[in-house]
Amino acid sequence: MSAEPIPGIERILFTGEQIDARIREVAAEISRSYAGRTLTLIGVLKGSVFFLTALARYIEVPVKIDFLAISSFSNKSGSPGVVRIAKDLDESIEGEDVLLVEDIVDTGFTLRYLLQTLAGRAPNSLSVCTFLDRNSRRIVQVPVDFCCFEIPDRFVVGFGLDCNQLYRNLSYVAVMKPEKA
Ligand code: PRP
Repeated sequence: MSAEPIPGIERILFTGEQIDARIREVAAEISRSYAGRTLTLIGVLKGSVFFLTALARYIEVPVKIDFLAISSFSNKSGSPGVVRIAKDLDESIEGEDVLLVEDIVDTGFTLRYLLQTLAGRAPNSLSVCTFLDRNSRRIVQVPVDFCCFEIPDRFVVGFGLDCNQLYRNLSYVAVMKPEKA
């Protein structure tokens, strides 16, 4: 692969092959954890779509999928971390074994809100799987049960992650040059 596949990209962090291999490992962990059960994967639009579909193909227990979308913004006093559901789930999760699937966890505000909201709907269990964890940006502590990669505090794109809605479809994860991020 060339050093600069598309303008604005500094370097490739994870190749498509590395991502596929790691997703297989995490899917195997998940399959062991949920052996004998049916798993409901909930994807958080839009970023998690690529990861969720790749992950689901390697999970060896029966899987249902559903999606929600969130909006996050600052409140009147300028504090970040205000989150609301912009598109809710299609199905009830009461009594289901739910795995919330994220593309990235940064501050943790989104995940904290989603876990509180979904826990109120009485699932049998509720866990979290993220493709990327940028732990250095965490502001609120949230549980992450399954994670593919920890990443440095850099702006990354690809495999679902965007820059102004572009680059989600890259098969790899890349670090953007600072001036583009
Ligand atoms: C990303 C990601 C998480 C959230 C994590 O979504 O999918 O939902 O940010 O950030 P936090 O830990 O700081 O709350 P984004 O708002 O970029 O939307 P997208 O998935 O549509 O790109």
